[in-house]
Amino acid sequence: MKIGVPLETRAGEARVASTPEVIKKLVAKGFEVLVERGAGVRAGYPDADYESVGARLTDRAGAYDSDLLLKVRRPEAADVAAMCPGGIYIGLMEACGEDEMAAAMRAKGIRVLAMERMPRTSRAQSMDVLSSQANIAGYRAVIEAAARYGRFFPMMMTSAGSAKPARLVVLGVGVAGLQAIATARRLGAEVFAYDVRPETREQILSLGAKPIDLDLGESGAGTGGYAKELSDEAKARQQAALADQLAKAHVIITTAQIPCRPAPVLVTEAVVQRLRPGSVIVDLAAAGGGNCPLTVADQVVERHGVVIVGHTNYPSMVAADASAFYAKNLFNLIEIMVDKGDAGPVLKDLSKDDITQAMLG
Ligand SMILES: NC(=O)c1ccc[n+]([C@@H]2O[C@H](COP(=O)([O-])OP(=O)(O)OC[C@H]3O[C@@H](n4cnc5c(N)ncnc54)[C@H](O)[C@@H]3O)[C@@H](O)[C@H]2O)c1
Repeated sequence: MKIGVPLETRAGEARVASTPEVIKKLVAKGFEVLVERGAGVRAGYPDADYESVGARLTDRAGAYDSDLLLKVRRPEAADVAAMCPGGIYIGLMEACGEDEMAAAMRAKGIRVLAMERMPRTSRAQSMDVLSSQANIAGYRAVIEAAARYGRFFPMMMTSAGSAKPARLVVLGVGVAGLQAIATARRLGAEVFAYDVRPETREQILSLGAKPIDLDLGESGAGTGGYAKELSDEAKARQQAALADQLAKAHVIITTAQIPCRPAPVLVTEAVVQRLRPGSVIVDLAAAGGGNCPLTVADQVVERHGVVIVGHTNYPSMVAADASAFYAKNLFNLIEIMVDKGDAGPVLKDLSKDDITQAMLG
């Protein structure tokens, strides 16, 4: 069975779907692995490292001519044209609802295993790229904030004077938010956090941060552990109740998202106007419209003296580790997809496993 690992061509994408460490294990299992030349270079994995573990270096067409195609980002039309009929695509699809690209792949007899459809269950945890990549995003967002903030994060007492710790608020306490809290605490900031799901209160406290409690008159807990969209009245109550808490902050990291819905507005322009000059907002929901209406996706802007960071691909900024985690997630998935055969791995019936069945959609 052939596995293909092409170079990611999306602008600004430095990650690669598999690493030499993982490919060594795939080769040991009997897979033939074809890696497009240069695929791992931007993530810190040179071609020679792939070759040394038994991968065959190839051109783009060679990597696409595979039974299992491993990708990070959503394929483009040219990628679909190069895909092998009857093959399996394993990667993010980054789509909600009707998806032309998935339809084009299915028309070629390609089965699509969309990584974002991975069930959020204990068994699937080791295969969950949304979690592994959100964790990295939460960490990198705080590093970004610290680098752009013109003051210290920790309390500093020196012979030249002392500085108070930064007051940092994390909005949205999912995977990214929890890592943002932990990273900001390690850097010595005073951390406050808020999520619309009440169960996050305990998690916030366990990381040494202080929960912000709001009474919205309705629960924001949706299905499958995700948040649901609030009513218009609750949204207005939330913005008003958060305003005074946020106005005291020096750094705000926002991560609030609802799958396949626009990101909720939590930091209004009126709040930005009240922040101390030099404050920093890092909006991890920038790709979904932002938790702050002043956020510009993929740009860093200054509004009312506040720096607002709208990067949309933090994992790519930590490309070596992000690729390593992503590659291990995919390896764990491939392990449940195949049986050991006399002449190498044999594909199982993907509709018989609840994980692969959910991913097929
Ligand atoms: N395998 C597993 O069991 C597994 C793995 C990862 C995550 N999870 C769970 O999945 C859920 C979603 O996690 P995620 O990180 O993907 O979330 P996400 O990226 O979809 O959203 C980030 C956070 O934003 C919050 N949010 C949404 N609207 C908000 C609002 N108006 N105000 C404040 N906060 C708001 C959400 O509650 C969530 O915590 C969590 O319950 C998490 O614990 C389970």
